[in-house]
This record gives sequence, C-alpha cells and structure tokens, in this order.
Amino acid sequence: MSQRPFENTDVICENISYNDLGHLTFAGHDLSELAKEYGTPTYFIDEERVRNRCRTYIHAVKKAFGDKGRVYYASKASSFKRIYEILKEEGLGVDVVSSGEIYTASLAKFPMENSMFHSNNKTDLDISYGIDSGVGYFVVDNVEELDAIDKIAEQKGKIQPVILRLTPGIDTHTYEAVNTGKVDSKFGSAIETGQAKEITEVALKCKNIRLCGFHCHIGSQVFDSKVYIAAAEKMLDFVALVNTSLGFKCEILDLGGGYGVRYVASQPEIDIASNIAEVGRFITEKCKNLEIDMPIICFEPGRSIIADAGLTLYTVGTVKRIPNYKNYVSVDGGMPDNIRFALYNAPYTIIPVENTDTVRDMQCSVVGRCCESGDIIQENVYLPSDIHRGDLIACLTTGAYHYSMASNYNKIPRPPIIMLTKDGSYYAVKRETIERLAELDI
Ligand code: LLP
Repeated sequence: MSQRPFENTDVICENISYNDLGHLTFAGHDLSELAKEYGTPTYFIDEERVRNRCRTYIHAVKKAFGDKGRVYYASKASSFKRIYEILKEEGLGVDVVSSGEIYTASLAKFPMENSMFHSNNKTDLDISYGIDSGVGYFVVDNVEELDAIDKIAEQKGKIQPVILRLTPGIDTHTYEAVNTGKVDSKFGSAIETGQAKEITEVALKCKNIRLCGFHCHIGSQVFDSKVYIAAAEKMLDFVALVNTSLGFKCEILDLGGGYGVRYVASQPEIDIASNIAEVGRFITEKCKNLEIDMPIICFEPGRSIIADAGLTLYTVGTVKRIPNYKNYVSVDGGMPDNIRFALYNAPYTIIPVENTDTVRDMQCSVVGRCCESGDIIQENVYLPSDIHRGDLIACLTTGAYHYSMASNYNKIPRPPIIMLTKDGSYYAVKRETIERLAELDI
C-alpha cells in the first residue's frame, strides 16, 4: 500500500493546502518558509480559525438560548497569555483549573468574573488565590471542598458563588481517560447515589457560599449530540427535583465541553451550530414539560475551539530501515511536545512539507528523540521512501492538549507557539532554552 501525493484525505481541515511550489501550506502560509523563520519543532496556531470557532459557538448559543447562553473556553486545552486576550476580544468566558491558569489569564487582564474554576482537588492555596482573583464561579467537586471554600471565604469576608459538579451517569463511549460522566468517575457527585442531593443540601446551608447551579462534563472527543441530550435530561430532572424538594431555583446549568474534532479523515467534522441547536430545542421543550424556568445554559469547549487551528512542524533526523521488520522516521520533537499517542493511542495525520508531489510508499513509525521506545508520535504513517535528514514533516490538529501537556522529559525545551494571521506571523510563546530549564536548580 502507498499514498498518492497530497491526497484529499490530508485535507482534514480547510486551513490545509499546498502551493505552486508543491509545499504544504497552513492558514495560507508556506510551512517551508515558516521553518526557515522559526526553526523546528514549532507549534503554529491559525488565529483566524480560533476566532471563527469562538464566533460559531457564541452565535450558536445565542440562537439556541437567547441571552441565556454562555460559552467558557476550557483553557486546559491550551493556556497561554495571548489566547486569553483573543478569548476576551471574542467575548467568551474561561474555565480554569489551577492557580497557574488563573495567573496566566490575569496577565492578559482577562475579566475573571467571567471564569469558572474547576478541578476535583483544589488546594487551600488555590481556593484562596481564586477568591482573591475574583473568579466568577467555583465549580465544586465534593463536600470537603465546599467546606474549605466556605471557611476560606469567611476568613476573607466574601460570599463565593459556586456551582456543583454532578455526574449524571452517562457513558460517552469515548476513550476511558476522558470519559467523565459515569457514576464511578473521580469527578463530581453522582445523582444516582443520592450524593448530588446531599451536597446540594450542604451547599444551601453554607453561609459564605451562594449556590447558583449545577455542572456536568460527560467526556471529551464526543461526536454525538445524543449524549448531551441524555445528560441535559438527567440534569434538568435533578434541577426540577431540588426545586420541589429543597425549594432551590437553579440559575445556571453548565453542560461542560467535549465536542470532538478531526485528527484523521475517517473522523467526522462536527457542525457545532446544528448540534447546539438540537440540544437547545430539547432543553427548551424539557423545561416547559417540567414547568421550570430555563436556567442560563453554559458550554465549555476546549478542543473544538483550538485543536484544528494548530499544527506542529518537525525536521526529520534519523531514518532507520530494518529490512523485513519496520521503518522509523525520527523527528526533532516527540513525546515532550506530543504525549497523546503514548497516553491515548491517539491517531494523527502526518504529511511531508516540501515533497507533497512524491508518492508516499514507505510505511513507518514517526518517533521522537527521547530515550524511550514509547516515544512515538504515530505508527503506520506513509512517507516518501527517499525521506531523509533535513526534510520537514507536519503533524496536524495539535492545537489542543499539546502545548498544555508538554513536558521537559530528557531536558528537552518546549517548542514556541507562533500565531499565524492573514498578514503575517508572530510569537505568542518563546522557545524554551536549555539554560531556562536549569534555572530553578540551586
Ligand atoms: N470542561 C471540563 C470540566 C473538562 O474537564 C474538560 C476537559 C472540558 C470542559 C473541555 O473538554 P473538550 O471540549 O476539550 O473536550 N488530555 C485529553 C483531554 C482531557 C480533557 C479533560 N477535560 C486529550 O488530549 O485528549
């Protein structure tokens, strides 16, 4: 088997193409030129694509829920100062999960009243920092945390708005590491076991907490709106139950993030607007049937805002052929900048940059430069058999959960983030240096 030069199956996102020189382009830029300017390995982000995805979400929730729709970007997908500036300009809120994300957002002067603070185990320091930073809502995972927030808010003389994270008992059938809505999840309080009602009762008694509503996040890389509808149904039934039994009127219902993106051609491209419209119709109808006011409805997309706006550019080093066994193409990055194959067996589209008109007849594993056999970016990739040291290759759809999950394993500095616009390109995050890696050593 081999792949023809630059196949349609490579065009998994509209920002991918190739030019008259036969070079791969991303967001209209020649990647070969970008490699000369910025070096490799490098993360590139198509700013227009990010902005368009933000607008798609904002318009979709407005259409479906009127002034009761909200979008919070899940910044764990990729957290750096410039992205918060863009989100602020586009009118999204943010979901943050640590003091580090709050700090980075604050560098961008992000209005923290438009933030939700997640995590299943916020430390006392996190709680204190979050309250001091003016975080809009704490998304509270469990009773111990509720208690800690109540005490710290009291010391500060503040009343902290919170929403409670619940598990509606929905199985998204996505990969296990991101399947979070099930009853046995490490996150939230389960409706099925009665713990959701218990934590609601406790929250209503806390003097320094204002309970505003409920949250659920059923999982990630989800392609089917039916699971959101199933989750919304369970959550709204619960909202109606606590309304009747505890007299609590839910103001906010947050349905989390999770819409999937395309890493390879066999995965669909989701139409966000029609999916949210479908969820919107269901929620409107369900609230009518339950005779409750529709709460403010929030979505927290991460991956579907930024994943396919990203690409990683690598330079090939060693090409090793083991006759009758396997071929390896090693690149100048690897598991420190992309841990997702090692962690989740995640699929990727990998394309040569300069020789897009050469038949790709060599099956190989694209691997990194770490001293570890598991340092694989992708197996069963087809590349031209004459690929050699110095050639460039691109790994697509690396905007989400790459920079944010990057490590310095083997003391390898993390790549920079370069933003691409219609008019040019600019640094959003500098390349790390080896000196910087040792900066904290005493
Ligand atoms: N809200 C909550 C509470 C979440 O936990 C997450 C993701 C999101 C929103 C955003 O989900 P998204 O729209 O990005 O699917 N490292 C994994 C993904 C972990 C997702 C964790 N939570 C990966 O690389 O696939």
